[in-house]
Amino acid sequence: MGIFHLFSHKAQRAAMKREDFAKLPRHVAIIMDGNGRWAKKHKLNVAMGHRQGVETLREVIRHTDDLKIEALSIYAFSTENWKRSPEEVGALMQLILEFFASEIDELDEKNVRILILGDKSALPDKQREVLIEAERRTGDNTGLRLNIALNYGGRAELVRAAQLLAEEVKAGELEAADITEQMISDRLYTAGQPDVDLMIRTSGEMRLSNFLLYQCAYAEFLFPTVLWPDFSVADYDEALKAYGGRERRFGKRL
Ligand code: FPP
Repeated sequence: MGIFHLFSHKAQRAAMKREDFAKLPRHVAIIMDGNGRWAKKHKLNVAMGHRQGVETLREVIRHTDDLKIEALSIYAFSTENWKRSPEEVGALMQLILEFFASEIDELDEKNVRILILGDKSALPDKQREVLIEAERRTGDNTGLRLNIALNYGGRAELVRAAQLLAEEVKAGELEAADITEQMISDRLYTAGQPDVDLMIRTSGEMRLSNFLLYQCAYAEFLFPTVLWPDFSVADYDEALKAYGGRERRFGKRL
């Protein structure tokens, strides 16, 4: 429970279990939107909104792991987020350090494998070192794949894949005409993981904001109106239940 739990109005229903669902997604992606509005609503500075957002994130990771979902991708910092005030960027960078300091032991113990999606080279040295260490330490784990997008952009990820393939063509290892969809998938940060089945964006905004463009080709989308710091495990269960009720056709006529 966060230090700001007094401000939180989360539903306290018992969490659902894997066997309660007829169908669960293999890969869930989440855009954690609404921290700023939550802070404003409670007359707090934006950093407090992000801090409370991290509390939600902890619960969501724990529940995803309990439900034995294969992969969870969360959008923590986009390439556009650098344009926010230095104070806000600084607060987010600080939260990244705090998050790994407090969570890494439990995540590793739970067999969670951490992967950072995005360009780590532009991050401050301290953050970069912590992230590389978290990836190294959990690299052989076989449980939940926890993908944390940091300095990430979906188009930049596709540009990177194109460059990798172009290098292979140049080296004579590959014919341009032989490039397949799978080869592109294999050169994304999420290589080897299933495509996104369910994309959740909180706060009622209905945009993808350059998150996992290629991986979301057949994803189901849910846009709960609740702000991210108020997003509860019960809200998450509701989203997962709604996913189970969707008929996925992948372009076919069933
Ligand atoms: C969107 O809310 C949220 C973000 C830009 C950052 C999300 C980051 C965290 C929850 C914490 C950092 C992550 C880790 C792994 C420690 P917003 O500020 O855009 O909300 P608004 O639209 O209401 O202003």
